[in-house]
Amino acid sequence: MSRVRVQKVQEMKTAGVPIAMVTAYDAPFARAADEAGIPLILVGDSVGMVVLGYETTLPVTMEDMIHHTRAVAAATSHAMVIADMPFLSYQVSVEQAVENAGRLVKEGGAHAVKLEGGQEMASRVEAIVNTGIPVMGHVGLTPQAVHRLGGYRIQGRDEAAARKLVEDAKALEAAGAFSIVIESVPEEVGKMVTEAVDVPTIGIGAGRYTSGQVLVIYDLLGFNPKPPRFVRVFDDLRARLFDALVAYRKAVENKEFPGEAEVTHAEWARPAPDGGDREVRP
Ligand code: KIV
Repeated sequence: MSRVRVQKVQEMKTAGVPIAMVTAYDAPFARAADEAGIPLILVGDSVGMVVLGYETTLPVTMEDMIHHTRAVAAATSHAMVIADMPFLSYQVSVEQAVENAGRLVKEGGAHAVKLEGGQEMASRVEAIVNTGIPVMGHVGLTPQAVHRLGGYRIQGRDEAAARKLVEDAKALEAAGAFSIVIESVPEEVGKMVTEAVDVPTIGIGAGRYTSGQVLVIYDLLGFNPKPPRFVRVFDDLRARLFDALVAYRKAVENKEFPGEAEVTHAEWARPAPDGGDREVRP
């Protein structure tokens, strides 16, 4: 299967095929998402909260994003890997935005970048797209603005705020964004924004009428003890992880592990016939 490109994402929207996106921050989860046929993998700056234990995404650095993007990109062969631009990597100037988007592609191996904001960020989107890097926009609840927004609150609740979101999305589209994330808005606002643009919208807590959906991988796999209300937990891997680790501890304590099957036999200790090292892993 060939790599998902922006054209494919647009084709899916035009054909009315819902687009699944998930976050990933490391190679094993990225490989699983890729093998599951998920077309878009976002290396979100949510890495700061769900992996690095910060209270907000604000401390996440370019180095963090490059580090995690590299792991995700290396583990995928089909999905488009989109790297989030962290706080202050694009807001200060158009030049910095282009340079940092370029680093995520050049050093991280991303195929596209995502940045938060509407009309006020259109100049950044346009400049990055002009360098040849696809850009995904992000409107609604933009977590990098958490302090201005007064918390992680639903956005677009009154008519003026909803209209502003529509204008933001249109500005991002006009600037060349290939897709737009809409986060935490009432369902009718998600629908209104989606109908106002031709590019696909990807919703998170934005209802059923966006062109696609995105979830944080740890939320949908049950690792978040208090997931947001819009999350569906598709499996409780936290409980399964706990059971597996308890079983492992008990097996060691009871001297059941390693058992006969896991013993390294003398044959493995002998050199390989060609004189090289034997593979210990299959
Ligand atoms: O950082 C992130 O994970 C995101 C998604 C929630 C859209 O931006």
